[in-house]
Amino acid sequence: MPGISFDRAVDYYDATRGYPPGVAEQLRDAIVATLSLSRQARLIEAGVGTGRIALPFLEAGYFYVGVDLSRRMMDQLRRKLDRRPYRAHLVCGDVMRLPVSDAAFDVGIMVHVLHLVEDWRQVLDEVRRVLRSDGAIVLISDERDGQQDAFPAPRAQVLKAWSAILDELNVPPEQRRDGAPHGLDERFREHLQTRGAGVERLTLLTYRQHPQTVRSVAQRYQERMYSSCWVLPDDVHAEAARRLQRWVDEHPAPDAVYEPPARIDAMIARWR
Ligand SMILES: C[S@@+](CC[C@H](N)C(=O)[O-])C[C@H]1O[C@@H](n2cnc3c(N)ncnc32)[C@H](O)[C@@H]1O
Repeated sequence: MPGISFDRAVDYYDATRGYPPGVAEQLRDAIVATLSLSRQARLIEAGVGTGRIALPFLEAGYFYVGVDLSRRMMDQLRRKLDRRPYRAHLVCGDVMRLPVSDAAFDVGIMVHVLHLVEDWRQVLDEVRRVLRSDGAIVLISDERDGQQDAFPAPRAQVLKAWSAILDELNVPPEQRRDGAPHGLDERFREHLQTRGAGVERLTLLTYRQHPQTVRSVAQRYQERMYSSCWVLPDDVHAEAARRLQRWVDEHPAPDAVYEPPARIDAMIARWR
């Protein structure tokens, strides 16, 4: 298994992971400005999914190749493109063996994919292989667990409760995918530096998340909307979901609505 296909997530991915209006376009603009990209730049995204990151680049006329294990996720992106003359090339394949030739791109983008693949080092090396000698790799992470009015975001509260429940249930590390590197793990920087890149880390933008409550976030864990829930055995997940419901029932304000602050951070590797 080279990675985790998101076929099963296609019906709810955009509703649960999509950015509020305008944020994806701001993200594109921040990447373009940070890398001083010209309109002729050629981009490739490993794990393109439904095009949450890709679509604004395509709408702005960039040449963009997306690779993904999940045909269904890319079909969703195709529907959004709706035969408009965008320069999108969507390829069903494994990002550990990119089906493209060497040195063909200026920028390689990866967002929430390296924790899913069998060997993230191989993916970084593959993306480097398909970049020109002065290309750049952009790794992006959503940091969504900010505070609002002194309260941790519902997502952070639920994640903490969920982890405590998995501890109580003695769920072993391999069923929690604890070893997988998340966000902008420093191991990515170290690996890219060994490949000769200069690596910097920066915040690209901040925004307010969609309105959310403790109950609505807990429901996503209970309905197995996150890939971390897919690897749990069914009976363990069912028991964890029951315990999480008890925690929600005892929460002092499970239906209080928050629009917590969030940031989009990037790790950028450049070769000159
Ligand atoms: C969390 S989604 C992220 C999608 C997109 N980058 C975004 O930020 O919305 C991860 C995507 O990576 C894909 N994926 C996982 N392992 C893969 C692999 N080895 N090769 C290609 N795609 C993979 C999944 O099918 C899924 O569409």
